[in-house]
Amino acid sequence: MLRYVTTNPGKVREAERYLPDGSVERLDFDYTEVQADGLGPIAAQGAREAYRHADGPVLVDDAGLFVEGLDGFPGPYSSYVEETLGIERVYEVASELDDRRAAFRCTLGYCDGEGFAASPDPVDRGDRDAAAAAGPDAEAGGESGGEDDAVGADADPLPVKLFEGYVPGRIVAPRGDGGFGYDPIFEHDGETFAEMDTDRKNAVSHRGRALEKFAEWYADR
Ligand code: IMP
Repeated sequence: MLRYVTTNPGKVREAERYLPDGSVERLDFDYTEVQADGLGPIAAQGAREAYRHADGPVLVDDAGLFVEGLDGFPGPYSSYVEETLGIERVYEVASELDDRRAAFRCTLGYCDGEGFAASPDPVDRGDRDAAAAAGPDAEAGGESGGEDDAVGADADPLPVKLFEGYVPGRIVAPRGDGGFGYDPIFEHDGETFAEMDTDRKNAVSHRGRALEKFAEWYADR
């Protein structure tokens, strides 16, 4: 049984849509969020800690909003910024910018205690190119070795496989009542995420894209 490590049951419901029936359950475990300027190192370290806690296969996700005109801020600091500044203030700052393009990005980290073959690489080139402008860890993917090198970590040998999802959009004045977090100020294809119903949002979301890649790879695992 795969365990999705989150305090949010909605994320597990989303994962269930991509994975075989009964193959995933929620693990309510609060892992340490290491401080890093990219999502990959946070997901990788979380997956290792959760695997050691659960002693079985785990999936951890880390997500954030990357505003291009702010050099990717708030990015990995999205939770902290949401709690402290709040999304209205993020909108106010972004409204001063010429370039209001932004992206939600999600990195999933999978760990089952075993190593991984070098290919297939789950991060496709299109995503890398698109993500390159949005954050410093745009090349994160594949095995954890590169990640560790990138963050200068003390080489934890437990392998983690990373999967990235990306959705482009732009920052707008808050609209819509649905969703959570930054949804009201993130517009994709003319609608904010808060204006979309859950199915529509899941179909285009960063988490959905990452889950899709993970599910395809996991089917052969
Ligand atoms: P987490 O990694 O899912 O905990 O998300 C980190 C931060 O990004 C939190 O502030 C979330 O509210 C925000 N966030 C992540 N995904 C979404 C999303 O789909 N919509 C809106 N905000 C999101």
